[in-house]
Order: sequence, then structure tokens, then C-alpha cells
Amino acid sequence: MFALFLYFLAIFAELAFAFGFAVVTISFIYSSIKGSPYVPTKQKVINQILKQANLKKNLNFFELGCGDGRVCREATNLYKVNALGIDVNPILIWYARLLAKIKGDTKSQFIIQNIFNVDLSKANVVYLFLMPKMIDQLLPKFDKELKQQTLVISHGFKIVKWANKLRKKISQKPFPTYFYQK
Ligand SMILES: C[S@@+](CC[C@H](N)C(=O)[O-])C[C@H]1O[C@@H](n2cnc3c(N)ncnc32)[C@H](O)[C@@H]1O
Repeated sequence: MFALFLYFLAIFAELAFAFGFAVVTISFIYSSIKGSPYVPTKQKVINQILKQANLKKNLNFFELGCGDGRVCREATNLYKVNALGIDVNPILIWYARLLAKIKGDTKSQFIIQNIFNVDLSKANVVYLFLMPKMIDQLLPKFDKELKQQTLVISHGFKIVKWANKLRKKISQKPFPTYFYQK
């Protein structure tokens, strides 16, 4: 009887694992289809990037395509900014919210949204790690909605058309980081 119970438990565990794996895989494919695959910023370079951003308490820090929200959480933890993480992938946002709750982070908010549909006018700092094509598509929105002087931090890829707005570059591995001021 006990052996039968263990047998069904093992089948249930395998099915649960397969289901979880399928959901996560589909959500990652979805992220890619929507514009950028999920590749997190390496934890060890986040502090270095945030240090260069001169963040001040209660600034509005927006992360476009926030993934698991690690950059937002670090920014609120170290600099007490108000962080808004936006991602189209519901699984990642659910995870980001869970981690924020576990850490007692009340200054990070995470929303499931396509970044093209989010009003950016209240941002003081924008962080992104997105594919070059998507960055290009976002530029008209940046031009229209971002306030003058907004700091835009692009990890991984240059904003080619904003070459005249480039203020700083960090050349760390595996990806460089570019700082622009609108
Ligand atoms: C390269 S990852 C960066 C994750 C996070 N910013 C980090 O640095 O750890 C890009 C993220 O953008 C999200 N994404 C892709 N297209 C999106 C869209 N149209 N709207 C919102 N988020 C999007 C993906 O789900 C993914 O989490």
C-alpha cells in the first residue's frame, strides 16, 4: 500500500515538474517574441552600474523589461529610490514580487505590461537591457515622454541614435553599460 502511494507520489512529482518546466519555457519564448529574451544583468555588475548612476532617495527609477526585478530591488535597497519594474512576462513579474516580499522591499513595484504601453513621463532614471531593435523602436517614445535630463542607462547595447547624449560608458564584462542624458 505504501509502495503504491510512493509510486503515485513520484508520478505526481514528475508531472508537476514537467508542467512547471513547460510553463517557464513558454514564458521565456513569449519574452523573446515580445522583443527581448530573458537574460538577467549579472548580479556582480549591478552595484557598479548603480554607483555610477548617482541615485538619490525617492527618485523614480523605471526598469523597462525588469525580468526578476534584481536591479530594482538593489536600487531600492542601496539608494531608497522608488522603483517601477515593468515586464511583459507574468512568471517573471510574479517571481519579482515574491522576492521583493521576502526581502520586505516596499519601494519596488512590479507590473505586467508591454513597455510600449507604459507612461514614462514620471521617470527620473530609466534602466534597460534590451535588444538593439527594440531600443530603436522605443526611441520615439523616449523623445516624446521622457523629461529633459532623464538618465537612461542601457546595459548591453548602445543607443546608436543618441550618440550625442552619451555621458559615460562602463566597459565591464560580459556586457558594457552606456549612460545617456536626455
Ligand atoms: C535581457 S532581459 C533583462 C532583464 C532585466 N532587466 C535584467 O537586467 O536583469 C529583457 C527582459 O525584457 C522583457 N521584455 C521583452 N519584451 C518586452 C516588452 N515588449 N514589454 C515588457 N517587457 C519585455 C523580457 O521578458 C525580459 O525579462
